[in-house]
Amino acid sequence: MSDELIAEARRAALNAYVPFSGFRVGAVVIDDEGNRYHGANVENSAYGATICAEATAIAHAVASGVRKLATVVVACIDAEEAGYPCGNCRQLMREFDVERVIVDGPDGAAEHTLEEILPHGFRLR
Ligand code: THU
Repeated sequence: MSDELIAEARRAALNAYVPFSGFRVGAVVIDDEGNRYHGANVENSAYGATICAEATAIAHAVASGVRKLATVVVACIDAEEAGYPCGNCRQLMREFDVERVIVDGPDGAAEHTLEEILPHGFRLR
């Protein structure tokens, strides 16, 4: 199962817009009914306006009406090491109750709970 999801995240990375870093990232978000949403990183001339792959996938799901996300899968296809989600993306996951994060890497996929990689995440509600 995670092989198929990783392959899907790697395919999503092919759509990355990365003229500045050349670092392509793809993500798959799965909601609690099993629907899947894809994303890739979108860079900008004003570097700070760049959007991560996980963020585009989460925004895709949420803008489609989803409010509870079960899993996020991420693949950095230009990395030599496993590419873990940045802190900002972990916090985005927290907002929508992500439970499981699957990260592609040279030795295969690693699976984590969000709690493991973002202990004590911020919550306003
Ligand atoms: N990036 C992601 O897409 N996800 C992350 O979790 C970390 C970084 C992207 C942003 C930028 O386009 C490139 O990787 C290099 O930082």
